[in-house]
Amino acid sequence: MSLLVKNIGCIVGIDESGRLCVAGDAMKSIGTLSDAWLLTDGTRIKDYGPMSQLPTGIDCESIDAEGGWLFPSFCDSHTHIVYAGSREREFLDKINGLSYEEIAANGGGILNSADRLHDTSEDGLYRQAMERIDEIVAMGTGLVEIKSGYGLTLEDELKILRVIRRIRESAPLEVRATFLGAHAVGRAFKGRQSDYVDHVCNDMIPAVAAEGLADYVDVFCDRGFFTPEETAQIIERGAAYGLRAKIHANELAVSGGVEVGVKYGALSVDHLESMGDEQIEALKGSNTIPTMLPGCAFFLGISYPPARKMIDAGLAVALASDYNPGTAPSGNMRFVTSLASIKMKMTPAEALNAATLNSACAMGESKDYGSITRGKIANFYITRPLPSLAFMPYAHQTPIIKNIVLKGKLQ
Ligand code: NIG
Ligand code: FE
Repeated sequence: MSLLVKNIGCIVGIDESGRLCVAGDAMKSIGTLSDAWLLTDGTRIKDYGPMSQLPTGIDCESIDAEGGWLFPSFCDSHTHIVYAGSREREFLDKINGLSYEEIAANGGGILNSADRLHDTSEDGLYRQAMERIDEIVAMGTGLVEIKSGYGLTLEDELKILRVIRRIRESAPLEVRATFLGAHAVGRAFKGRQSDYVDHVCNDMIPAVAAEGLADYVDVFCDRGFFTPEETAQIIERGAAYGLRAKIHANELAVSGGVEVGVKYGALSVDHLESMGDEQIEALKGSNTIPTMLPGCAFFLGISYPPARKMIDAGLAVALASDYNPGTAPSGNMRFVTSLASIKMKMTPAEALNAATLNSACAMGESKDYGSITRGKIANFYITRPLPSLAFMPYAHQTPIIKNIVLKGKLQ
């Protein structure tokens, strides 16, 4: 049934330009309309306009926003939401001075999560992940990408991807799946990294594709994990099975991940805490979206990506949460925009553009998601009245969301 929202203090994120992302200086502006209404056709945004031209005589459900603001739902293009248990033991190790790499080298980190996932049933994993899904839906996310990568054996990678499929079929928000078999070398292949890469390419990717379990393929291309050459091998094999690449690049070091991602036309290169001018240069003129995950830099206490330099170089940057047990145990996209403003000097409008339209673009989904546009999926949330757009990232812990609409349905 159609839904009419009346008395909206301000609609934010309006875009009728048809662009798939917003780059450089243009990121500073975001379309708005004050004192407005918005109508859906049941699933998609049908129309919107000023209250002085409120449509009448429509048979529809209606909500009074009472002056609250309406925002496009966050698009979170990088998460690892399906995992078993939590890793606060490593949190204590970090407090006591160990680095992320030292913890991983001691058998903690990703392998620790893989062991726990192995011992957890599909039902158990689904239940744990759905709690996190409910949490991010309540915080305004409407489209989310979820990675595998805590399986690291064929069976367990299929298990985690089947859980993602079940979430996709049952959750109110839209879900995309990424095969991340090359997140770390599985225990059975210890010391035989190139055999593991062959296993990913020759056994895992075909099996994942045969069940249609993934939209994208990812590789942790970084110091101590996978090389650019191995990354290229996996991207090429994924492409042969219709999987577009999204690469973990330059978290721990300038890894070559950016360059290999650009070379093979990856949808996005993500993390980017270690970026030189050459990497920014490499991204210019490409369609690869540089995606920053400031929740990870915040949690690990490492340097933040050079957001200002990238935007000033004319790039279309995206923001995502990286929700995972090891480096970013939160999927709060609003807090991500706060970190972007506070730590990376992005303006509130830049941060919002990065967390909506550009993050949708980093999933190849910005034709349908990421802005308030006639014909796009009706994914939005309504807040209480706000003094200004900047209030969102500024008052980062104040609850403001009053209503959530996903695929046209009031939640
Ligand atoms: O994006 N960096 C690689 N992968 C995750 C962390 C995985 C983990 O530690 O469990 C990330 O930060
Ligand atoms: Fe990640």
